[in-house]
This record gives sequence, C-alpha cells and structure tokens, in this order.
Amino acid sequence: MTVRNLLEVGNLCKSFGRGKNAIRAVDDVSFSIREGSTLGVLGESGSGKTTLGRCVLRLVEPDSGRIRFDGKELTWLTPAEMRQCRREMQMIFQNPLSSLNSKMTVAQNVADPLDIWSVGTPASRRARVRELLDMVGLASKSADAYPWEFSGGQQQRVAIARALAVEPRLLVCDEATSALDASVQSQIVELLLRLQKEMRLTYIVISHNLGVVERMSDEVLVMERGKMRELSTTEEIYRFPKSDYTKTLIHAVPRMPTPQELAARGRPLPRL
Ligand SMILES: Nc1ncnc2c1ncn2[C@@H]1O[C@H](COP(=O)(O)OP(=O)(O)O)[C@@H](O)[C@H]1O
Ligand SMILES: [Mg+2]
Repeated sequence: MTVRNLLEVGNLCKSFGRGKNAIRAVDDVSFSIREGSTLGVLGESGSGKTTLGRCVLRLVEPDSGRIRFDGKELTWLTPAEMRQCRREMQMIFQNPLSSLNSKMTVAQNVADPLDIWSVGTPASRRARVRELLDMVGLASKSADAYPWEFSGGQQQRVAIARALAVEPRLLVCDEATSALDASVQSQIVELLLRLQKEMRLTYIVISHNLGVVERMSDEVLVMERGKMRELSTTEEIYRFPKSDYTKTLIHAVPRMPTPQELAARGRPLPRL
C-alpha cells in the first residue's frame, strides 16, 4: 500500500531582523511526512526547531518556500481557507497553560474549540468533551476543575484533549514533554503514540530529548543553525549518525528509558 505524504515542505526560509544582523532561523529546509507517521526534529537550542514548526502552521510567516498540506499549497490559500486548514493542524507547547484559559474549567477549555467552530449541538459537545477527557486518561470528575489545580502532566493531557477536539490531522509537539518528570514524560509519550494509532495522526515532534524523539519518530531531521544537517530514518540517525554535529548531539544528551527498560529495572510500566 502506498501511503501519501500529508505534508511536503520545500526550501523553507525564515529570517529575523535585516542586513548583516539577520538571523537565518530556518534556512532552506525541505522534508515530507507520510500520513500517520512522525518526523522528529532534533537540534541544539536556537537551531530553528520552533520557528520551523510555527512556519508549517503559518503562525510565523515564512519568507519563502513551499508548504503543501494534504495537496494544498498553504501559501496560496486565502485567510478564510487558511483558517479552515489550521483546524487540521494543531500545536502542543512545552507549557500547557499557554494554550489553556485559566478562567475556564477543564471541560470549558476542551469545549472551547468546538464552540468556536460551532461543531454539533450543545449536548453533543458535552458528550464529545467527556469522550475526549476519557481518551487522554482524565477522570470525568476533572471536568469541573481548573487547569491550574492540576499537575503538569495532567495539564498537558488537557491541552492534548483540547487540540484533538476539532479532529486535526497534524500535531506539532514543541517540547511537549520537556518540562515533565521522566516518568510523567514517558506517560505522555505513550499517550501520544496511542492516540496517533487510534486517529491516524501525523506528528512533528520537536524535542531536545533524544529518547523522546527516538521513541516517537519514523524519521528524524537534525537542524543546526537553521540548516538541515541530516534527514534520515530514526535508526540511521541514531545508529549511524553521519555528521560530527549529530554524533555530538546523540552522545551529549541522556536518553529517556523505554517502558521496557523501566520494567527491566523493576519499575512499573507507566500507567496510560
Ligand atoms: N520572534 C523572533 N524574533 C527574533 N529572533 C527570533 C525570533 N524567534 C526566534 N528567533 C531566533 O531564531 C533562532 C532560532 O530560534 P528557535 O526557532 O526558537 O530555535 P529552537 O526552537 O531550536 O531553540 C534563534 O537564534 C532565535 O533567537
Ligand atoms: Mg524551541
């Protein structure tokens, strides 16, 4: 079976500032992602990972290049068409509270995009919110609590439920687990993997955590100062890194233990 590309990015460029002080945050980056698969993006801090993710969603306007999502050239879309398209592309941030409204309950936060897009009836939206909370492993009694009453891991589950409410096809996770303790991090990683399978989601996983990228990605893009340093299958990148830059990255950062390794050390498997 041939799987088509959900996203194709060609020669994407984005600079900040002008003249000789300009920073080339994203410098001629090209890649494609098959529907239902994951591209990991690795690179040291400041290498352009976040800018790349934001350009793909056009939260940052690229200077040049092509972004083709589901066969549509995003740069040619009218604002109205882009608005429709953005519904299919959601982003998860390092700080879950940045995408949640602290004055709203968990249920209201998850319902908010459904209200904005007028999806279904008030009753069907309430049912959908319950279903979403269940999907991300939050007890129904969490619905009436406020996000700030929760731990970081639970907040991230709320942010994921909110992002999934409008049934996106692409999720850009920008350091989504980086602020969490290792065991919570691995619970969120396993949750995202399960949701990906269930909903055939396509992911861009941006992280400086090598273990997270290795566990989640089919292919990995390594960035250095805005440029693509390497792009290959996860196994190739981790086992046979070609550039010294990638070798240094891979040897510098501790890996996240897999659930199997945690179990082998006598620790329980993370609860999903
Ligand atoms: N809004 C902005 N204005 C000016 N410079 C920016 C802006 N956003 C990012 N940069 C610069 O672009 C480069 C890449 O940043 P970023 O994409 O955040 O990298 P990463 O996510 O890999 O840490 C950095 O040098 C950063 O300082
Ligand atoms: Mg970043």
